[in-house]
Amino acid sequence: MFKPQEFIEEAVENIKKTVGKSKAIIALSGGVDSSVTAFLAKKALGDRLIAVFVNHGLLREGEAKEIRKFFKDKLNFRYVDASKRFLDALKGVKDPEKKRKIISKVFIEIFEEVAREEDAKYLLQGTIAPDWIESRGKIKSHHNVVLPSGLVLKVVEPLRDLYKDEVRILAKELGLPEKIIKRQPYPGPGLAVRILGEITPQKIEICRKANKIVEEEVIKRNLHEKLWQYFAVLTDTKVTGVKGDKRDYGYLVVIRIVESLDAMTAKVPKLPWDFLKKVSQRITSEIPEVTHVALSISDKPPSTIELA
Ligand code: XMP
Repeated sequence: MFKPQEFIEEAVENIKKTVGKSKAIIALSGGVDSSVTAFLAKKALGDRLIAVFVNHGLLREGEAKEIRKFFKDKLNFRYVDASKRFLDALKGVKDPEKKRKIISKVFIEIFEEVAREEDAKYLLQGTIAPDWIESRGKIKSHHNVVLPSGLVLKVVEPLRDLYKDEVRILAKELGLPEKIIKRQPYPGPGLAVRILGEITPQKIEICRKANKIVEEEVIKRNLHEKLWQYFAVLTDTKVTGVKGDKRDYGYLVVIRIVESLDAMTAKVPKLPWDFLKKVSQRITSEIPEVTHVALSISDKPPSTIELA
């Protein structure tokens, strides 16, 4: 049986031993994994831990503001707006694995720059077991696993052997608020793995709006407690539609809603029909560039949770 208090004590001791008198930075996304890692590391290092939150321009609506507001007084917090840098690096790139690798590279460059400025020698990451298991199996390069060669910072991953349900138990034990404990997992590369094909500012905006609608409707109907993830994917396919009696040619959006325990497998549950119709109607009416909404009904395996 997982014993959270024992785990916390041991992890704090290990971080203390590993980092010694040096400083460390934590790659903080505001999700439950990196938040738990941050508060564990704060117990071990106090103000020698610098929490770095990078806005890569692929966050959901309102996310950057919310995360800054929550963490800025609780941790030694640094906000880096690198949206332009990520988008420039991703320009013209269509291949999903290439996109993932570019994102990890830019992330790590930024962490190394901040570490140099702060004179930190260690990088803490909230990597959990499914992240490295799937990267090792070459299914996907999870962004916090693939580090470019030449890395100077030493990586510390206290949650490496845990699964999400255990991380949520730790979060509760550490006194984190419900909104972080229950936050649906959000992939580090953000909307980049929910936009198929080239990433452009226009496609980010469309994908962001569609994700907001799915989240709002799921929460409005109180479906979120039982779900692992609920989101929208902007495909690279355009289809013919009809809006206001006129021919339209717009994007196909896919809604993806899954139940899971640890993300290693996932199932698409039965969903209320009126809820699905509402999501579809809202997406096509509130987002002019979208003409068609489809529901993904594939489980993992054979599919993965994110489409890219
Ligand atoms: P897949 O799509 O591989 O996703 O079935 C499994 C879980 O991991 C999340 N995911 C990621 N998380 N960095 C992350 O931090 C990544 O690069 C990444 N890719 C996928 C995904 O949202 C799901 O919860």
